Amino acid sequence: MNRLRCFITVEGIEGAGKTSCLERIEERIRSRGLPLLVTREPGGTPLGEDLRALLLGHLHAGMAQDTELLLMFAARAEHLAAQIEPALASGAWVLCDRFTDATYAYQGFGRGIDLARIAALEDWVQGARRPNLTLLLDLPVELGLQRAGKRSTPDRFERETLAFFERVRDGYLDLAASMPERYRVIDASQPLANVLQQVSAQIDSFLDVYA
Ligand code: TMP
Repeated sequence: MNRLRCFITVEGIEGAGKTSCLERIEERIRSRGLPLLVTREPGGTPLGEDLRALLLGHLHAGMAQDTELLLMFAARAEHLAAQIEPALASGAWVLCDRFTDATYAYQGFGRGIDLARIAALEDWVQGARRPNLTLLLDLPVELGLQRAGKRSTPDRFERETLAFFERVRDGYLDLAASMPERYRVIDASQPLANVLQQVSAQIDSFLDVYA
């Protein structure tokens, strides 16, 4: 197994069907008998989950943009140290529901924080660690928000405007275009069965090469 090729992330705006896709990816990886850590951001550790509650909850709804950015990276530093790096070092695969590309998309493109600042934090917190494969579940914002709205009460991000999510979506597409070797873009506007079929095809072809 190529140990450098086993950190997989899934990204997309709200309502893209991330949860079902993550379950499918997990199932495909486990079907090959590979050890796997499934985790998420912000979160993935007890401290990270507490930070997640602060970031997604409404108690500190008006937090400064830089506070939000730094809390994302604080949670990430803990996640890398306590979970991701030990798992990769042990030879396990890691499947993460969002990672630093979400920071570029939401805090960078969405909020307007200078991408160079995010890149500096990325280098500091992660060193050379980057995902080896990122699946971007892409769909029109209105459709995503419509789907997401059918679930529970909106969190702090889900309360954002349509224009914010348009910037996030465009940001993700920019990232995908600038890193075609790492990104696979999935058309998530289709019915779930078709989306899952695309996800399986992408993950299986990756596993054929690297597992
Ligand atoms: P989710 O896990 O339900 O997708 O919710 C996480 C929310 O946090 C989502 O709205 C995206 C947001 N987020 C950021 O803004 N920046 C980040 O770096 C990460 C990991 C998530």
